Amino acid sequence: MRIFLDTADTSIIKKHFATGLIDGITTNPTLIKKSGRDPLEVYQELKDLGISDISMEVVGDADEMIKEGKGLYDTFGDCCTVKVPCTPDGLKVCRELTRDLIKVNVTLVFSPSQAILAAKAGAAYVSPFVGRVEDNSFDGPKLIQEIVNLYREHMVRTEVLAASLRDAHSVAKCYEYGADIVT
Ligand code: G3P
Repeated sequence: MRIFLDTADTSIIKKHFATGLIDGITTNPTLIKKSGRDPLEVYQELKDLGISDISMEVVGDADEMIKEGKGLYDTFGDCCTVKVPCTPDGLKVCRELTRDLIKVNVTLVFSPSQAILAAKAGAAYVSPFVGRVEDNSFDGPKLIQEIVNLYREHMVRTEVLAASLRDAHSVAKCYEYGADIVT
């Protein structure tokens, strides 16, 4: 039951990382923008704190994302998990980076079908958006359960990282349904 924090605010991260209960960080371009800082500076600060798993999202077309992802891995090494959207380009990038043994988090997942494609592309993590699913009147934790069952049935090694969570109740439900990580 790993807990990640979904923020690029290093003062919040420092405070909670000091509890010893935080296993990693997920960021995205919106969170980086909100921090008002250069993403590379934020990642370096997190690496220096000793955070061993930082999702760093890349943007652009497939070639641009591959270039940026490889650059991030070269700079930050094993604490770097490259985060890509679950789009045709994002899945192509996932396949390519995974071949180079770079960990990839496939984000913006709203259905088991997308989770299947992410697993086939070799993702280390798949990030279903529990809160956004709930915003649309569907059962968010149930989506986690469906993906977990599907992965178990087919012995898939991709881990399920429940994202876009809004409350502690959903966190507990996601763990109950087999999420490996919550952010
Ligand atoms: O990790 C995904 C997250 O940043 C999206 O969360 O609250 O904007 O749905 P939210």
